Parts: sequence; C-alpha cells; structure tokens
Amino acid sequence: MMQLDLILEKTREHVRQLLAHDSAGHDWHHIDRVCRSALAIAREEGADVFVVELAALLHDIADWKFAGGDHHAGSKAARAWLEGLETPADTIQHVCDIIDQLSFKGAGVETPMSTLEGQCVQDADRLDAIGAIGIGRAFAYGGFKGRLMHDPAVPPQRHDSFEAYKKNAGPTLNHFYEKLLLLKDRMNTAAGKRLADARHRFMELYLEQFLAEWDGLR
Ligand code: ADP
Ligand code: NI
Repeated sequence: MMQLDLILEKTREHVRQLLAHDSAGHDWHHIDRVCRSALAIAREEGADVFVVELAALLHDIADWKFAGGDHHAGSKAARAWLEGLETPADTIQHVCDIIDQLSFKGAGVETPMSTLEGQCVQDADRLDAIGAIGIGRAFAYGGFKGRLMHDPAVPPQRHDSFEAYKKNAGPTLNHFYEKLLLLKDRMNTAAGKRLADARHRFMELYLEQFLAEWDGLR
C-alpha cells in the first residue's frame, strides 16, 4: 500500500493537470477551494480528513454534463485512478460513493449524503456555487454555454426530476432561482450552514441590485 500522504500528493498533481484548462466551472482553483473548505468543515465536524480531501480532489474529474450523460463517469474515473495507486479498497468505495451522491439534481429531487465525510465535501462544493464566487461561476458557465444573462420573458422552473434539470437551458439568472438560492437550506453541517447563510444574503443583495438596474432604477 502506498503511504496516505503520497496518495494525496499524486492525486493533487493528477487533478491539477487534468483541470488546468477547464473553463466550464471546474477549473483547478474550484477544486482547491472545495478542498480547503471541506477540510475546515471536516476538522470542525471531526470527520476523516484523508477521505474528505481525496473525495474533494476527485469530485469533478469527469462530470456527467460532459461525459455523454453517464452519471457514474466521475466515480468510475476516480476508482480507476485510485486503484492505480493501490489505495485501500474501503477508501476507494467510500470516495466513489461520495462522488456518486454529490450533485444537485433539481429543486424537487432529494440528494441525501450517507456519511459525515460526504456531507463535508457536499457542503464545500455547494458553498463554492453560492456567494460572490458562485455568482462568477454561474455567469462563466452561462457564457461558456452561450446563454443570455437574463430574459424576463422566461420564468424560472421547478425541476422535479434529474432529467428535467439536465435538459434545462434557460438564462443564467434563472439558475439562481432553480439551484443557487435553494442550497442554503440543503447544507448538512453546522459550519456549512453558517457559511452558506452569509453567502446567501450576499446573493440576495446582488439579485436585488441586478433587477433594479435592469429596470433602470438604480
Ligand atoms: P458543482 O461543482 O457545484 O457540482 P456543477 O457541476 O453543477 O456544480 O456546475 C458547475 C458550476 O456551474 C456551478 O457553479 C454551477 O452553479 C454552475 N452552473 C451549472 N449549471 C448552470 C446553469 N444552467 N446556469 C448557470 N450556471 C450553472
Ligand atoms: Ni464541484
């Protein structure tokens, strides 16, 4: 078995190279931020920091959005990588379970996370989707997809299935109502909730200003 710190070091380098040039919301800096928040939450919650860091590092290496819709593309890629490093089998399974359960799948779809380690990573990933950074990432993703920022004629939708959520191609502002503003109430940990509250308030202020400017009021 490879030493645990060597597994982390090799994985960090692997992911940094894989995601160095991503411009669709999953660049290396997203991974780095999620790692740091997930570890901070994990220390507060008393979670296994090795599993948390490994899952945070590997959580976006193969996204279903870009893997022909294969929902297990991410965990398959993570498993292949970790097997190559002779990672203990129970750790591999735990990391793959976390990756499989991580994503938001629509307003009406529950996304329960079965372990404390997974809850730390899910909270950290969701924190990076809200607040100032989350706003930047949403507009960057919308630009990447060639979408309008806002279209008052297209109302936000409530997605009751993962299929409906995946098909959505509305303007970026709708994403705030369809996902980003819902994340605060879906946080798992006390630390996650605390951080999400502040970021949520910032998004609300931002949207208020955005919509006032849209109408030429401010
Ligand atoms: P995560 O890394 O949180 O799992 P995703 O893979 O769903 O997030 O998406 C990557 C980033 O792109 C996130 O910040 C997310 O909010 C944003 N994003 C995803 N779908 C949309 C969309 N339809 N419009 C705008 N931003 C989006
Ligand atoms: Ni992510």
